[in-house]
Amino acid sequence: MPFPATRLRRLRRTAALRDLVRETELSPTRLVAPLFVASSGGPIELMPGVSRLSIAQAVAEARELAALRIPGVILFGIPDEKDSEGSGAWDAEGVVQLAVRAIKDAHPDLLVITDVCLCEYTSHGHCGVLDADGSVDNDASLELLARTAVSHARAGADVIAPSDMMDGRVAAIRAELDSEGFGELPILAYAAKFASSFYGPFREAADAAPAFGDRRGYQLDGANGREALREVELDIAEGADIVMVKPALAYLDVIAAVRAMTRLPVAAYNVSGEYAMVKAAVAAGAFDERAVVLETLTAIRRAGADIIVTYHAKDAARWLAR
Ligand code: PBG
Repeated sequence: MPFPATRLRRLRRTAALRDLVRETELSPTRLVAPLFVASSGGPIELMPGVSRLSIAQAVAEARELAALRIPGVILFGIPDEKDSEGSGAWDAEGVVQLAVRAIKDAHPDLLVITDVCLCEYTSHGHCGVLDADGSVDNDASLELLARTAVSHARAGADVIAPSDMMDGRVAAIRAELDSEGFGELPILAYAAKFASSFYGPFREAADAAPAFGDRRGYQLDGANGREALREVELDIAEGADIVMVKPALAYLDVIAAVRAMTRLPVAAYNVSGEYAMVKAAVAAGAFDERAVVLETLTAIRRAGADIIVTYHAKDAARWLAR
C-alpha cells in the first residue's frame, strides 16, 4: 500500500527502532589488519597512522589488535635485498617468515594470513619472473609462488593469500601445500584484483613499484566486471577457500556480483589509496573520520563482503567497542 498507509519513517523514529531493523552489522570480527614488516620500522608518508614495523613492533601491534577482537592480520614483507627472481620471498629466514613465527609464538589465537607475491622481492618490481623479452612469465612464476606459500606454511601461517594474478596459481599453490603436508591450510585468493591507481601508497609502503611498464598484463582491467567473475570462477575451481575483490570502493558492484555467484566467504580489500583519501580529507577538515570510516566499511559489508581487509581496522575496532 502506498503513502499515506505506508510510511517508512515509522521505523526510523528512534535509535532503538533503527537498531532493530538494521540490515548490515559491522563488527571487529569481520576485519583484517594489514601489517608491513621490515628489518627496521618507520613511517609511511602517504599513509598517516600506518608504519613499517620491525618484528618486535609487529608482535606488539598484534597484541593490541587481538585485544580489540580483530581476528587476524595479513603480512607484507619488505626485504633488505631484492633480486631478479624474488628469492627473498621463500627465504626461511626472510622477514615475513620470521614475523609469522614471532607473532604465532606470542599470540597463537590470532590468525596470521600471508600475502604471497614476488613484487616486494623482485628487483624489477613485477609480481612474477621475467622471460627473455622482459614480460612476466606466467608458468615459470607458478613454481616460485608455490615455494613461497610453502615457506609461509612452514613458518606457521594460518591462511595463504596469493595476490600475484598469475593464471593457475591457486591450483599450483594448493598442490604444493598438499604435497608438503599442509592440506588443511586455507587459501584466500585475491581472485578479482584490478590494475588500479588506488594501490599508489602501498607501493611506497612496500617499496614495490614496477621499475618499467605496469601490471595491466596480469591484473584485471577496471572496465571488466564479467571477466572479474571468470577470475573468481577459476580460482574457486582451482581450490580457493575464500575469494577476494580488490580494491573495494570503486568495485562495490563486483563485490555484490561475486556474493551473488558463490557460497564461499567473500573478502574485500579496502586498499591503501582508499585509506589515504579518507586521511587527506579528514586532515583538510572535510568530515568526521569515525563517521566516514564506519559508513565506508558498512557499505563494503552491505555490498556483500563477509571479511574486510582494511588499514582502518584498529581505529574501527576501537570505535565499535564503545
Ligand atoms: C602485491 C600487492 C599489492 C597490494 C596488495 N598486494 C600491490 C599491487 O598489486 O600493486 C595493494 C594493497 C594496497 O594498495 O593497499 N601484489
